[in-house]
Amino acid sequence: MSVWTVLLAAGSGTRLAEASGGVKKQFLRLGGKPLYWRSLSTFARCPDIAGVMVVFPPADLDAARKALAGLLAAHDPGVAVLTTAGGVRRQDSVQNGLAALPSDCRFVLVHDAARPFVDPALVGRVITALREGHEAVIPVLPVTDTIKEVREETVLATFDRSRLAAVQTPQGFDAALLRQAFAHAGEEFTVTDDASLVEHLGRPVHTVPGHPDNRKITNPEDLALLEDATPSPVP
Ligand code: C5P
Repeated sequence: MSVWTVLLAAGSGTRLAEASGGVKKQFLRLGGKPLYWRSLSTFARCPDIAGVMVVFPPADLDAARKALAGLLAAHDPGVAVLTTAGGVRRQDSVQNGLAALPSDCRFVLVHDAARPFVDPALVGRVITALREGHEAVIPVLPVTDTIKEVREETVLATFDRSRLAAVQTPQGFDAALLRQAFAHAGEEFTVTDDASLVEHLGRPVHTVPGHPDNRKITNPEDLALLEDATPSPVP
């Protein structure tokens, strides 16, 4: 029952483009290596992970593959590492990653490379829940801000915060279920996380505790979270 991670590093990083000197965030430096390497090595340290499928932007695929080969030669992660090209939307990148996985992959964890501070304990919680029989598992945190629906400058509604959760990655799935959820949703259905596809299929999604440090590098102010996030032209 092999477990693979699809590591999403195929975004265009438009929200950070100016602050990062035009470098896509997954290629910013963290500890002297590209950002995506941090979570790749965390997953590789988890005993259950058989391999990591890194999804790169199509335009950067060749250069990123070369750079990754150099990193792998210098720091053997001890698991299989494969690469493929992403798509226009995040969910297209997930689908491409899924399609390229080995056929014996039973469970898949989908993780945003933009969350470099994921820790092995969180990965372990997701995998344990999958092994216990949950087909779809997501890490969540309580919402501490009050969330309102706003259109233009007017508040339309206020939600009951006690019923809301902030969702992180990695999200874990029975690989066959996630494929089925993609097929059921079709091309027109656009989502911001993969569990939404399973919900759309009418199947249950289980939650485990996330971690506050597992933040997504999204906006320019998040760059302060990286020790040495210096723009680098090398993917
Ligand atoms: O844009 P956002 O921050 O939501 O992206 C989340 C993750 O999905 C990032 O790691 C990004 O590289 C990845 N992504 C992708 N393919 C896309 C869009 C985003 O792999 N087309």
